Amino acid sequence: MTFVVTESCIRCKFTDCVQVCPVDCFYAGEAMLVISPDKCIDCGACAPECPVDAIVPDTDALAERWLPINAEYSGQWPGIRHKLPPGAQAEAHRDEAGKFEKYFSPLPDPSVPH
Ligand code: SF4
Ligand code: F3S
Repeated sequence: MTFVVTESCIRCKFTDCVQVCPVDCFYAGEAMLVISPDKCIDCGACAPECPVDAIVPDTDALAERWLPINAEYSGQWPGIRHKLPPGAQAEAHRDEAGKFEKYFSPLPDPSVPH
């Protein structure tokens, strides 16, 4: 069991979630964060912290598409434990549809040291 980060995170990336994770399982990409399914202890603490409800349990229907993305990129991106200032456009990308197709990036967050 794990929680997964989904499309709503893309270009919002508020990072409130990372502050409450007891086992540091968030990883930062250029466009979004992901959770390591191998490290997550399924505590659920992060989900209510996200202002755009991007984090769901793997039992949620949304998770099927996003679990492989969380698994793949948590092995490639740097770990993040501290909140970052949200990007200038974060509010503008709330509730936007089709963010994966428009903005997803496989690159790591350049502002987080590996
Ligand atoms: Fe971390 Fe708990 Fe969220 Fe898993 S469910 S990512 S362990 S805060
Ligand atoms: Fe993303 Fe929400 Fe965390 S927008 S960075 S999952 S607080």
